Amino acid sequence: MPRLATFVTLLALLFASSEPVSADTGVSTFNDFSSQSGVACAGFSPDNSQGTNIFAAALGDLSPLWTGARCEGTITASDCTGTGSCIDCTGPACPDEEQCGQCFNISCASSLDGETTGSCSDTVIKVKIVDACPSTHPENFCKIAEFGGDVPADQACEASGVNAFDIATTARSLLSSFQGNLNINIESTSC
Ligand SMILES: *[C@@H]1O[C@H](CO)[C@@H](O)[C@H](O)[C@H]1NC(C)=O
Repeated sequence: MPRLATFVTLLALLFASSEPVSADTGVSTFNDFSSQSGVACAGFSPDNSQGTNIFAAALGDLSPLWTGARCEGTITASDCTGTGSCIDCTGPACPDEEQCGQCFNISCASSLDGETTGSCSDTVIKVKIVDACPSTHPENFCKIAEFGGDVPADQACEASGVNAFDIATTARSLLSSFQGNLNINIESTSC
């Protein structure tokens, strides 16, 4: 091969391998979307399945991957019972969820609760964002210690700077044999 062609080939290889892949980490809780009365993203059905091998997911509005304005609403202690539940459980409006309809590859990295029995699978699942997990929703913030609950902030969409995905419960056993929540690997992908 002439030297120039070799050089061009090498350059092409270099560019192919350094293609920007946005890889992130975060946490996953699990949710039954089919039991929800509606979803925050217009045009998506409240179903765990969003197509063949595509699972529904909600993205926490404190997540670095969130784009657009955060959900409306305020965190008010009087909305909580003080024991982890809410009295006024009205959720905020989320009029600017710019990740609606975007897809991500998700795989398990480890147990979030330090489970010692169980393991991650090698399976990569695809999720589609169909909802938000608003930090100003009483069903979320009332659960954390600050308001008398016992759920860690990162498992209630209340941890700033953590990519929080609430993924269809039907995807749980594909990701791992752990019983609880997960640390996850996240990669932006096409739907
Ligand atoms: C997403 O996962 C699929 C299945 O494992 C894989 O073929 C694809 O390359 C992944 N895409 C990205 C952007 O990681």
